[in-house]
Amino acid sequence: MGEILGLGLTHYPPLSGLDDDMAWLLRQGLADPLVPEHAKDTGSWPERMREEWGSDEGRSAAKTHRERLVAGFDRCRAELDAFNPDVVLIWGDDQYENFREDVIPPYAVLAYPDMTIKPWANMAHSSGMDDRPNIWNEGPDTSIEVMGSPDVARRLATQLLDQGIDVAYAYKPLHHDGFAHAFLNTLLYLDYHRRGFPYPVIAFPLNCYGKLVVSNKGFAVSLGDTPAELDPPSPPPWRFMEVGRAVARACAESDLRVALIASSSWSHAFACDKTWRLQPDIAADREVYAALANGQYDVWRDRSLAQLEDSGQQELLNWFTLAGAMEELGRMKPDWSMFEESYVFNSSKVFAAYRPGPSNVERPSAE
Ligand SMILES: [Fe+2]
Repeated sequence: MGEILGLGLTHYPPLSGLDDDMAWLLRQGLADPLVPEHAKDTGSWPERMREEWGSDEGRSAAKTHRERLVAGFDRCRAELDAFNPDVVLIWGDDQYENFREDVIPPYAVLAYPDMTIKPWANMAHSSGMDDRPNIWNEGPDTSIEVMGSPDVARRLATQLLDQGIDVAYAYKPLHHDGFAHAFLNTLLYLDYHRRGFPYPVIAFPLNCYGKLVVSNKGFAVSLGDTPAELDPPSPPPWRFMEVGRAVARACAESDLRVALIASSSWSHAFACDKTWRLQPDIAADREVYAALANGQYDVWRDRSLAQLEDSGQQELLNWFTLAGAMEELGRMKPDWSMFEESYVFNSSKVFAAYRPGPSNVERPSAE
């Protein structure tokens, strides 16, 4: 019988970058000539957003944001170390990294071998870190060793296909050397203090960006550069919950200690058209977070893809997969969670931990 730890965390904004750069996406949006002046007028912004922006375009608030995020990562890392997993599986979005014009799978298991990854040599662009200094002062020759677990990944793909989950799989990167940003950043932030990461990793990329994955290259584009033709959608949220449930069943049938990690921020300003791509939809995030903290998985299952797209919550599909897994295991509420609200750093961030064990419906709820 396998043991399973569930964790939710994020991989953006680039904690890898400096505080000065943390609000760069909002600064870029404010420079877009097609964004109307009334939306750019700080007087029209919510009070909390004006406070964060302050008199230095968010540079002071970035320090506090970083401190709270690093504390969240430290808490998650402590949960991970206490659990001491045999393998860590990460659900993350592929933003036009390996999923490109030649094939867009709905999701995939990456059965990669051990890898040596140079975070600043050839993949910085995928995190918006091009030519920007990193917080660790590491150079292009810096490398990290990431252990793979191809045998477990191959078995997992088999178990999912046996359950009718039509998952793709890969033994090596297609376009993007090493790990795409969602996985690399997760590892960098879980090892923020640079003590090493001793657990084998299986990346499980999801097509979260759907209609925007090729058309917008899964990232921020100015209003004038938005193409008229969008791509087909991602699968609906409920389907990701089914995938998560199937992964949980497969892990429970194994004899392994498996950490399941959902990695993403919540509503993204750059994907939220109703705010002119300047503000995330914090109200929607609060609603979904309340349902998570209260174990209302039906609220999650009823969420439509259109609602997620309207709120710029495409990356939340990573968390839908985790929610499905935790529901399958009877983990009705997180044992710990926190909501770090932000307007000017593109998104709010959530951290959550579901410890292994029997159904925890009666345990105290989130903070
Ligand atoms: Fe992402």
